[in-house]
Amino acid sequence: MNNRKYPHALSRSALVAVIGSGTMGAGIAQVAAVAGHPVLLYDSREGAAGKAIGAICTNLDKLVSKDKLTPALAQAASQRISVAQSLEELHQADLVIEAIVEQLAAKHELFGKLEAIVSTRCILATNTSSLSITQIAAGLQHPERVVGMHFFNPVPMMALVEIISGLASDAALAQCLHDTALAWGKTPVMARSTPGFIVNRLARPYYAEGLRMLHEGGAQPATIDAVMREAGGFRMGPFELMDLIGHDVNFAVTQSVFHAYFNDPRFTPSLIQQELVHAGYLGRKSGRGFYRYGEAAGAPRP
Ligand code: NAI
Repeated sequence: MNNRKYPHALSRSALVAVIGSGTMGAGIAQVAAVAGHPVLLYDSREGAAGKAIGAICTNLDKLVSKDKLTPALAQAASQRISVAQSLEELHQADLVIEAIVEQLAAKHELFGKLEAIVSTRCILATNTSSLSITQIAAGLQHPERVVGMHFFNPVPMMALVEIISGLASDAALAQCLHDTALAWGKTPVMARSTPGFIVNRLARPYYAEGLRMLHEGGAQPATIDAVMREAGGFRMGPFELMDLIGHDVNFAVTQSVFHAYFNDPRFTPSLIQQELVHAGYLGRKSGRGFYRYGEAAGAPRP
């Protein structure tokens, strides 16, 4: 691996495998396919990847109806994505982007399994929001090929991608992912592996102060969100943004940053958010978080 030269950006024929077909994995698969790559989508939950491809096709149709994509490009992109039924089917991947649950042990185990399947030329990227790239890579045979490639939600719309190097990451490989993100129409930035990287570090106080204000009875989520949107110039207030991200994911990120900074009280996780996670009120994806969505949208808020 060490002597290997990476191209500036992956060629369009390079096979991209995305693991985890949830909110982020589906979006990443869509973006890679629109950019011209053949894409394999794998999820350990039976039927999940197939369902995600259905949702991707719906999204592509929406882009066509808004004149953001031609029907031919949308059709070609949807035909480039297929479901992998097992991890072994990823053996020819040139780039794997992992977007599974935000748990270090799960990611570490997955990367260990992948090393036995993919070739030594394959780049292993993680979409982790906050976990240490150094730790995810530690103990692997080739830790230098592990790099963070952190997309934002919703992936097809958000330009920013953080390219994060851990202590062992190969700089040429990080540059390759940077240039690949550029070729995918994104705006990549380089960062080193610190807890939460750039955006999730800076965003922690945004959520935390909103949650503290709610805890103190200072104002309701809808009021706080409206103020931040309409007077603060933010695209979304903290509560609607947490509902979009998913409380399970957002809570896991806060816990990870809190522990990584040796339990610094600035990053203390919120009991209110923990309750939402315990109740399964995960936000948009479950139909209920701070707000209600879908059929339950008219019902009173929790
Ligand atoms: P999600 O809960 O929507 O999807 C995760 C998917 O991974 C699920 O479909 C699950 O079945 C699958 N999965 C879990 N363990 C697996 C395994 N071992 N092998 C294969 N599939 C597995 O989660 P989401 O929101 O897509 O997040 C995924 C990753 O992306 C997390 O690391 C998260 O921190 C990160 N992220 C999330 C953002 C967000 O706004 N939701 C933004 C940026 C990064």
